[in-house]
Amino acid sequence: MMFAGFAGVWTPAAMARELRQKPVSVTIAAERIVLFRGAQGQPAALIDRCPHRGVALSLGAVTPEGALACPFHGWEYGPDGLCSHIPLNDLPADKRRRAKAMALPVREVGGMIWVYTGTDVAAPPPLHVPGALTEPGWVLWHYAETWDCHWTRAMENMLDMPHVPYLHRRTIGRGMRRRITRDSRMTMHVEPTEYGMAIRNDLDGVRTSGFLEWHRPNGMALYILPPESKRGFRQHMWCVPVDEIHTRMMLVSARTFGGDNPISRLFDQFNRIILGEDRNVVQSTLPKVCPHPSEEMSVATDAPTLAFRRYYFNTLHESRWPLAEPPLGPPAEHRHGTP
Ligand code: FES
Ligand SMILES: [Fe+2]
Repeated sequence: MMFAGFAGVWTPAAMARELRQKPVSVTIAAERIVLFRGAQGQPAALIDRCPHRGVALSLGAVTPEGALACPFHGWEYGPDGLCSHIPLNDLPADKRRRAKAMALPVREVGGMIWVYTGTDVAAPPPLHVPGALTEPGWVLWHYAETWDCHWTRAMENMLDMPHVPYLHRRTIGRGMRRRITRDSRMTMHVEPTEYGMAIRNDLDGVRTSGFLEWHRPNGMALYILPPESKRGFRQHMWCVPVDEIHTRMMLVSARTFGGDNPISRLFDQFNRIILGEDRNVVQSTLPKVCPHPSEEMSVATDAPTLAFRRYYFNTLHESRWPLAEPPLGPPAEHRHGTP
């Protein structure tokens, strides 16, 4: 099956600025895809395998007509994947078009190239992109790095609040950590939304400023300024599966103020430090792929990550194990002992 564990969804595949005249090869869920721009500059996405002899089309070049020419024998493919030219052979068009590279639905929105990971490409579901990426008045800053981890572990880290005062105790979690005593309690509030879920939390009965959204399947939004505030400041992150052990973390920092000034850029540096703190622990996680919830002990503050995990196992994971209830509490073998 193509795109195993990540089929039938929209995901960012590259930053728009990465895609210029040359074709770009990206791997999504172990499937090699070539991105290029057609004659009008519109993005195109093909499975990166020439139908003639299977070589990577991404090693080829884009012709002045906006077709992608294979590096091996020069066969040319349009953005729709149809073969438009076979050199050295006089073939009628209908025969030539039998050589067809598989085209994937693709869009360019919010400074990113989005690809649909489907084989049912005729009618993909609508693409959902968070508002800050499409509405006027936002300054966007794009940044990407690759982590050595499975995307499910990275995604769960992004939806996880209770790690902030511990892992980030020297940076963004410092204030929260000072308020925490050994008797402190955090309460999670998880609301399903049309695009995923909204996550808020209380610390000792007081609502914290942390507000997160999950944008199905692999997106997260962190509201640094709350949604009701006049000015907007949000971090959008997508955990894009490359293969079983690599994830491309694609960040779009969005704000309605500040522009591209040095202070904003300083803040972006700070972002990278925080991201480094997360990367370090996520890359150390075993097993690599997030396991069935019955295999790890979970507590009430894990509710958001468990909600994600249920979606992953019920919808994306090929085994499709039905997980109706949030499986909270210790796994069976710990139930009778004292930890
Ligand atoms: S392998 Fe691509 S043209 Fe022959
Ligand atoms: Fe973090």
